[in-house]
Amino acid sequence: MLKDVWIQGMPPKERGFIRRCYGGGLAKYSERLKRIALVGVDTKVLDCGCGYGQWSLALAKHNKLVYGIDIQEKRIQIAQRIGKELLVDNVLFQVASAEDLPFRDNIFDFVFCYSVIYMIDWKRALQEIFRVLRGGGDNIFM
Ligand SMILES: C[S@@+](CC[C@H](N)C(=O)[O-])C[C@H]1O[C@@H](n2cnc3c(N)ncnc32)[C@H](O)[C@@H]1O
Repeated sequence: MLKDVWIQGMPPKERGFIRRCYGGGLAKYSERLKRIALVGVDTKVLDCGCGYGQWSLALAKHNKLVYGIDIQEKRIQIAQRIGKELLVDNVLFQVASAEDLPFRDNIFDFVFCYSVIYMIDWKRALQEIFRVLRGGGDNIFM
């Protein structure tokens, strides 16, 4: 589903991962999000440590606005490029650390954080996640 041309110059491991993520489309991610009810009409979601953005872009189908943050600039650039190619206009990708989130308190309905927490200062990240979540943090998915 992605145009292959621009990922051809990437290192094989990265290229392979992106192909695996996006090769079958976003349906597999969508299905999992629906199963855990991470959907809403007017919802704002943070994908914390979004990597190449596959979860953010799937979240965008089921929520009003999604922010995808990752510490690696290169991954954010790739996620932005893929979002553009897939014509998704309700995801904002930006470079940031989960340990120091650049958002005001109480602004997200859900925080999604897949395969990240074990590699960071999780106590600090959780403090930050609770801070930005509305309602004190009932809606963390990791
Ligand atoms: C195993 S990958 C998972 C990426 C994505 N969630 C997924 O499911 O494909 C871990 C991601 O966490 C990011 N990361 C590591 N430390 C971080 C931090 N302090 N803040 C934000 N992202 C971080 C890495 O750059 C990487 O993209």
